[in-house]
Amino acid sequence: MAQLWGGRFEGNISELAWKFNASINFDKRLLAQDIQGSLAHSEMLAKVGVITKEEKEAIHKGLKSILQDVRDGKLEITDKYEDVHSFVEANLIDRIGDAGKKLHTGRSRNDQVALDMRLYTRGEVVHTAKLLKNMLSTLQQIMSENVETYMPGFTHLQKAQPVTLAHHLGAYFEMFKRDSLRLKDIYERMNYCPLGSGALAGTTYPLDRDLTAELLDFYGPTLNSMDSVSDRDYLIEFLSALSTMMMHLSRFSEEVIIWNSNEYRFVEIDDAYSTGSSIMPQKKNPDIAELVRGKTGRVYGALMSLYTTMKGIPLAYDKDMQEDKEVSFDAIDNAQHCLTLFTDMLATMKFNNLAMEKSATKGFTNATDAADYLVVKGVPFRDAHSIIGRLVLYCIDKDCAIDNLTIEELKEFSDKFDSDVFEAISLKTCVEKRLTLGAPGPLVMNKVIEANKAFINDFWTDKF
Ligand code: ARG
Repeated sequence: MAQLWGGRFEGNISELAWKFNASINFDKRLLAQDIQGSLAHSEMLAKVGVITKEEKEAIHKGLKSILQDVRDGKLEITDKYEDVHSFVEANLIDRIGDAGKKLHTGRSRNDQVALDMRLYTRGEVVHTAKLLKNMLSTLQQIMSENVETYMPGFTHLQKAQPVTLAHHLGAYFEMFKRDSLRLKDIYERMNYCPLGSGALAGTTYPLDRDLTAELLDFYGPTLNSMDSVSDRDYLIEFLSALSTMMMHLSRFSEEVIIWNSNEYRFVEIDDAYSTGSSIMPQKKNPDIAELVRGKTGRVYGALMSLYTTMKGIPLAYDKDMQEDKEVSFDAIDNAQHCLTLFTDMLATMKFNNLAMEKSATKGFTNATDAADYLVVKGVPFRDAHSIIGRLVLYCIDKDCAIDNLTIEELKEFSDKFDSDVFEAISLKTCVEKRLTLGAPGPLVMNKVIEANKAFINDFWTDKF
């Protein structure tokens, strides 16, 4: 046990309590952020004259060598240390002696961990946004190739009206676009530096918080030291955004699972993203999509867990907050894996255009258009609705589509039917005439695809 706080104690901590208290096994993930923060802190300490330039240089050299040695596998982060902060400081002192003991001047582990978690989260927000960009580009590509690929649109999972594959996937484009916007919003709000808040009440050293904020690429320092060491809102916001993104991925997974089923056959998932059965030789299962749907629960769980951890914490830092890490790391890892895998699966998935089109011609997806046809011919909509309803019943009995009836049969239901009805209720016409902005008609769909393209090109910046 190599702790930072021996002086005030007469006895030793129990072994079980030490293990229970320690966070090294999971916060070692924050090594790079911890060192990045210490580089900035010592740079600033030297600028304001609290340490000498030579001491700062020794500290920088020592910190960089620790990071390098861990990366090269020459130095192991063991559970001899309580947490990653103790590990770095103890190793620094080992390497450079007294100058290392000065690093923690004007700093507490509370603002250190607040900074590390914020730096880590900021990086993952940016990384997730990049993964979303891949998803949007993949969707955009498939959409632009399928503006005239007809398929049934559903409500209540019952065939409703004809749409196109571009239109259906466009719905997911909107969802993942909102997810990207949410991440940027979080980035903007969280990009302030807590370093220099001390344990809770700032410090009596003349720290230059603007400088450390600038060195660490933040917009500026945070404005209340008690809030700074105990704020995990940004992490809750991120987990919330990830939960929403997982909800979108889970809905999409559900559709892929349905589309991939023997009954639908709208898509074929590539072998790289499916698995077989140990007993049934014919099976090709959509396990990846099912797991994405399944893992959504644990991401929601992380959000609920952190909300619950934070809800009873009096100001400022309390050790409960150490519980922010494991659940968040797990949720972030899983959400990113799901997003990456789903995007790859989508990019390699074959769409069975014929099956989709065939399905759209069955199930009376043109019934609304048939009613609208009669409206144009002067029948009030409510009457037209009822006429087509009876017509559909007749077709169900005959096991055929409206388009399969002869004009004579149609005229039995209304004398307003003419031979132009077949053109008017064809799949192509039904889709082409849907020209309100946001509808599947190719003319408006192409405009939306252009707007989507512009979004992909313009939204992401160097930093975000
Ligand atoms: N391991 C702690 C955490 O994750 C670091 C901060 C410890 N601060 C303290 N005063 N014990 O929250």
